[in-house]
Amino acid sequence: MNIIGTGCAHPSLTVTNEMLSGFLDTSDEWITTRTGIKKRQLISDERLEDLATEAATKALENAGVAAEDLDYIICSNVINEYITPSLSCILQGKIGANSPCVDLNGACAGFIYALDIANSFFKSKDIKNILIVCAEEPTRMVDWNQRNTCVLFGDGAGAVVLSRGEDVMAIKLTAVSKPEPLYQMRKLEHTPFINKEEPDGPLVMKGQDVFKLAVESSKNDINSVIDECDLSYNDVNYYLLHQANIRIIDTIRNTLQQDESKFPHNIEKYGNTSSASIPILLDELNRDKKLKKGDKLVLSAFGAGFVAGACLLKWSKE
Ligand code: UT7
Repeated sequence: MNIIGTGCAHPSLTVTNEMLSGFLDTSDEWITTRTGIKKRQLISDERLEDLATEAATKALENAGVAAEDLDYIICSNVINEYITPSLSCILQGKIGANSPCVDLNGACAGFIYALDIANSFFKSKDIKNILIVCAEEPTRMVDWNQRNTCVLFGDGAGAVVLSRGEDVMAIKLTAVSKPEPLYQMRKLEHTPFINKEEPDGPLVMKGQDVFKLAVESSKNDINSVIDECDLSYNDVNYYLLHQANIRIIDTIRNTLQQDESKFPHNIEKYGNTSSASIPILLDELNRDKKLKKGDKLVLSAFGAGFVAGACLLKWSKE
């Protein structure tokens, strides 16, 4: 499987740390030093499906693939305005595709899970092109009075078009059922028959526990894909990590003893955009012509579950 096109889309509203300190007991200094985030793009008057459509359209253009030539659409998404139908089905109509489509919720690791599913589809089906769109609005999950969560997130969408090939060399996925450090529960519609307590509320996060789980799982997954391909850390040109906290990225980089330039990041501009963060970063590197043919990339993400995954791939796009 090869990545032949990338795209992304951001909401128009920029919210800086200074703007947050106008209504929260926080500061640019705290947010910058603890997370690396300076600003984020937040949904205000947009709909997530429109961001997904923009990212998908750009990825298709970049790949030179027409929407009607797509054989499958996979959307990675945690929440959006529709409970049903799926975001991928809404998107299918908006871009003018006619392929089957499915959504998955792999939390912030959703892009790696989607890559793995796409890879299996190429092996099991007679298909040519798959579109993955990761579209997320985590800023609608948090309580905007809670400074420990709301400052971390941003909204956005990232997309890739995939075709047959040998570029994806290894994928490792892990999942451990451990919701306590990071979860959100919501009340469903009432029925006359419900007689149980129903939890409801914003995202709950034990930051330090998530930090440790993230570092541990990412290190293990990276080691796993590198070992599987008989490579060393030095053989990898770029490590694209989920953009959750610059300190998580730095801790992993220090363990791997690799140069800072190998860990591109954009968390300072967008915050944590959940599963969209890696495809957005990949699109930036692709469009800025930073990736050379033959470069080896490791993608690594982690999130609520606790789920995680890494992918090692060769870049062959000109
Ligand atoms: O995609 C996965 C999603 N989540 C993550 O990846 C999160 C992983 N965890 C983290 O990134 C970090 O744990 C955080 C950035 C969330 C927090 O950083 P920390 O260094 O672990 O800080 P802390 O939670 O230990 O809090 C230190 C202090 C506390 O005050 P006290 O108890 O020491 O007086 C917090 O109340 O910082 C306070 N604090 C803040 N202060 C100013 C927490 N949030 C803020 C804030 N502004 N926004």
